[in-house]
Amino acid sequence: MTAQDAEPPGRLLIRDLAQVATPSGSSAPLRREALRAVDLFEDAYVLCDGGRISEVGEMRRLRPIAGEVRELDGRGLSAIPGLVDCHTHACFAGDRVAEFALRAGGAGYEELHAAGGGIVSTVRATRAAGDAGLSAALERHLGWMLRAGTTTFEAKSGYGLDRETELAQLRAVRAAGGVPTFLGAHAVPPEFADAGADAYLDFVLAEVLPEAARLARAADVFLERGAFDAGQARRYLLACRAAGLELRLHGDQFTELGAIPLAVELGARSVDHLEATGPDGVALLSASQVTGVLLPASALFLGRPMPPGRSLVDAGAAVALATDFNPGSAYCESLPLVCSLACTQLRLTPEEALAACTVNAAHVLSRADRKGRLAAGLDADVVLVAADDWRHLAYHLGGPVVHTVVRGGRIAWAGAA
Ligand code: NIG
Ligand code: FE
Repeated sequence: MTAQDAEPPGRLLIRDLAQVATPSGSSAPLRREALRAVDLFEDAYVLCDGGRISEVGEMRRLRPIAGEVRELDGRGLSAIPGLVDCHTHACFAGDRVAEFALRAGGAGYEELHAAGGGIVSTVRATRAAGDAGLSAALERHLGWMLRAGTTTFEAKSGYGLDRETELAQLRAVRAAGGVPTFLGAHAVPPEFADAGADAYLDFVLAEVLPEAARLARAADVFLERGAFDAGQARRYLLACRAAGLELRLHGDQFTELGAIPLAVELGARSVDHLEATGPDGVALLSASQVTGVLLPASALFLGRPMPPGRSLVDAGAAVALATDFNPGSAYCESLPLVCSLACTQLRLTPEEALAACTVNAAHVLSRADRKGRLAAGLDADVVLVAADDWRHLAYHLGGPVVHTVVRGGRIAWAGAA
């Protein structure tokens, strides 16, 4: 925190914007038609006061403001809500560029995992990093995310898989202002290879969960062949729910092993991935209160089928979009790129993509009362898109679309798009 951050944010007027675009209404999560309803103001402004939005409107309605106010010139730019990344593994040390090269040469992701690489190689690097090294790595990743327009983030543990490092990950995420998720059931670590997944879960639930539950908001499990099965996932999630955590699942990434039925049965907040979800899963999820979190950058990065985004939206599911930023399956921190993939690969409209990585993502994190829209009273988190039509966010594939990022009423990043 800088000295300037210690001062309460004053007033900030973002003026002469070509457009202000925000998901309509005030409820969450959004589904069906409500998912694509965007309020659009042209030649507009956003006024921030004390870290909150105080007014959004057209320039011709702007009344004179008495007293001190900082102005930001929005000519040629568009404003959208700060982006919310509700599924990341951003708290990791090292990278997996060598594994990436092997995969480019034909090696499979699950094959590398089974051979002791993959997730476990990041576990080795994360355990070795120490608290300071881990926080430094997280800060570096958060810098990338901020420059891509992310103003609210979730990040999971799951690269410690021992007491000390799991808790260190959760503390680092909290200290960096993120929403921490306890992914104690991500993989079975090497020291439990002989004892097996059940013995590892005995350890995690007895030794790590009590403290993790004080630090995290939710728990998550990797329900997949080679990781944890449905029975093990149920046991882990029930214990985490009893400890006060919300529930999330990595499900249907490679195979359908009952993640959606389990998520619905347990009242999970979300089930994430869904690349392998078939029509029954789409129907069950769409009729439930569970949000489906779509991670198209992960499907792209692994060369996997895309999740059935259009079918889910048409069937009335609450969907969110996230990066899944991690060193193995999605070395990608960019929600604008994810929006491009949502429009080109999942056949969502730009409006649906916007709501999915703002309001609905905030709902997954239980923050929709404060985040995800540009409306009076909400947190002053604003992304200025470097174009006079906000839809360039998704249109400009991999382009420098984020011009400026305002977080909590302060300019957090002023780029040079
Ligand atoms: O969401 N699939 C499980 N976990 C992560 C990948 C983790 C890794 O490869 O390090 C995911 O894709
Ligand atoms: Fe993930």
